Amino acid sequence: MVQSPKTLIAGNWKMNGFSSDLSQFTAVVEALSKKPVPDCQVLLCPPVTILAAASTISENSALQTGAQNTHIAQSGAHTGDIGAAMLKDAGADFIIVGHSERRADHQETDGVVNAKAQSCLNAGLVPIICVGESQAERASGLALTVVEHQLNGSVPDCDETQEIVIAYEPVWAIGTGLVPDTDDITNMHAAIREWLVNRFGDKGHGIRILYGGSLKPSNAAQILPIANVNGGLIGGASLKSEDFLGIVYAV
Ligand code: 13P
Repeated sequence: MVQSPKTLIAGNWKMNGFSSDLSQFTAVVEALSKKPVPDCQVLLCPPVTILAAASTISENSALQTGAQNTHIAQSGAHTGDIGAAMLKDAGADFIIVGHSERRADHQETDGVVNAKAQSCLNAGLVPIICVGESQAERASGLALTVVEHQLNGSVPDCDETQEIVIAYEPVWAIGTGLVPDTDDITNMHAAIREWLVNRFGDKGHGIRILYGGSLKPSNAAQILPIANVNGGLIGGASLKSEDFLGIVYAV
């Protein structure tokens, strides 16, 4: 049986952050060098405009950097788009794909998300594949069905050497201050684990499942220890180093 995976605390800056905010990266790097958290991998995904500069600051530190989206192709005639190999060249180790905001704003289907995740793997990067139900879907008792359907469509095949991460982000918990209760997180993460083991066999035990949606320093100590929660994907509370580090140090 594969050992339980190392916790991953990942920040998603979304469409926020200027070069003046690179000081937040410096602050996280300095804090982690003074007070390391060996049991935790730490990642920040800034907007692509400051990714290369952020990656330079984080080089040789305990902080890794990632991107928030990629094109399905590595390069070519796609004006305004950026491929996974280019994001790797800019310093990314991970790429978030299929975030609910992209599924909603850009009509990204499970098939598109799957192709983007595959493109990350082809470039040697780790896709963080996001899934999660809406408020109406949860209210109708469809949360598990919806997430299973998204997993079926969005998760690409991968071999023993390739790594993927799943992020469960209930849409209604994102940026609202609302968080599912412990039982609901437990049940959803257990169902995702079961799906991963059915799909990938033993490898499925080692794939990280992050929780995302209004995760903050004040609730991290309740949410992160839940079974099959292998870390968090954090939006608002990742923008300021003190808040983000508050979650990292709750691990
Ligand atoms: P918040 O932490 O701001 O709720 O955002 C979660 C999220 O969407 C991370 O990808």
